[in-house]
Amino acid sequence: MFEVHQNPHPRTEAERAAILADPGFGLHFSDHMALATWTVEEGWYDREITAYGPFQLDPASAVLHYAQEIFEGLKAYRHADDTIWLFRPEKNAERFARSATRLALPVLPTEDFLSSIETLVTTDQAWVPGGGESNLYIRPFMFANEVFLGVRPARTVTYCCIAGPAAAYFPKGVQPVNIWLSTSYVRAAGPGGMGAAKTGGNYAASLIAQQEAYENGCEQVLFTDGAERKWVEELGGMNVYLVTGDNKLITPALEGTILEGVTRDSVLTLGAERGLQIEERKLAVDEVLHGIESGAITEIFACGTAAVINPVGSIKTAQKSYVINNGESGPHTDGLRQTLLDIQYGRTPDTHGWMHKVC
Ligand SMILES: Cc1ncc(COP(=O)(O)O)c(C=O)c1O
Repeated sequence: MFEVHQNPHPRTEAERAAILADPGFGLHFSDHMALATWTVEEGWYDREITAYGPFQLDPASAVLHYAQEIFEGLKAYRHADDTIWLFRPEKNAERFARSATRLALPVLPTEDFLSSIETLVTTDQAWVPGGGESNLYIRPFMFANEVFLGVRPARTVTYCCIAGPAAAYFPKGVQPVNIWLSTSYVRAAGPGGMGAAKTGGNYAASLIAQQEAYENGCEQVLFTDGAERKWVEELGGMNVYLVTGDNKLITPALEGTILEGVTRDSVLTLGAERGLQIEERKLAVDEVLHGIESGAITEIFACGTAAVINPVGSIKTAQKSYVINNGESGPHTDGLRQTLLDIQYGRTPDTHGWMHKVC
């Protein structure tokens, strides 16, 4: 149970309305946050919803030095009847637990993870935008909060969950992205590394490649495996799929080196329902580039909670730009995107039991 302590100084209705009119992404946060503390001696305690506000961190707090932290990302959707829903939040809870185990952090039980989110979203339901494809982005995270210098798992840990309104990712319609194939940098080591964990270190490792992508006129990076630099893994913040002319939907297999996306998993189901033949397997960079050149690959898309499904217009290397489908989105990309959005926003029956009602 997360006990609610109301923020004594919430934003006024007018202030909130001004933010909701143009929220952007990751810029504004609701009036409350969820908190819980864990110690070796006590386990989890002090679960509460309290006023959103800054932490006081000791300069020797372990997370600042050894990056022992994890996070999640999911959304709350307002349906036409004003009810508010989450999309497969138990998948995020499971991934949060797997990330915690990999980072030697304590596991937050699924019921606490879900209850923190449900109570926060209910408390701040006025912050869930309505209309269009806007939503409330929810960011649960956990970090080592023990004051010590030394390399060992922390004995004091903080769990927190914040949330903020987000505008439609593509306000002017879906925009295909150009992707930079990084050959200089990898985001995660091979098997045994942290690639499957949602932890800040993987994102820190990706930033220099992201910078390189911008310098080369691309918006996102396609990372290859850490061991051989031969196999396609994922983008900096999304999983990747390709569609072939003979109706295959192919995505890199989960081998512990990429993030197990909730959207990725959902697309496996929805793709099969569209009659596509699913292949989860090792996918060589050469196979992808040759497939684009020969025309065997007809669509490539990236998927993740933030952008849902994002068509890839081209893959660029230092030598050449490989353009897919004339740089435009394709029918399966568009169809899968629409189906997923219709489920999330309650415009079509939820036949998979994916939606989780909050209030
Ligand atoms: C590295 C990475 N891969 C894939 C994903 C997609 O995961 P999901 O569909 O659960 O948002 C994300 C987004 O969270 C990510 O950061």
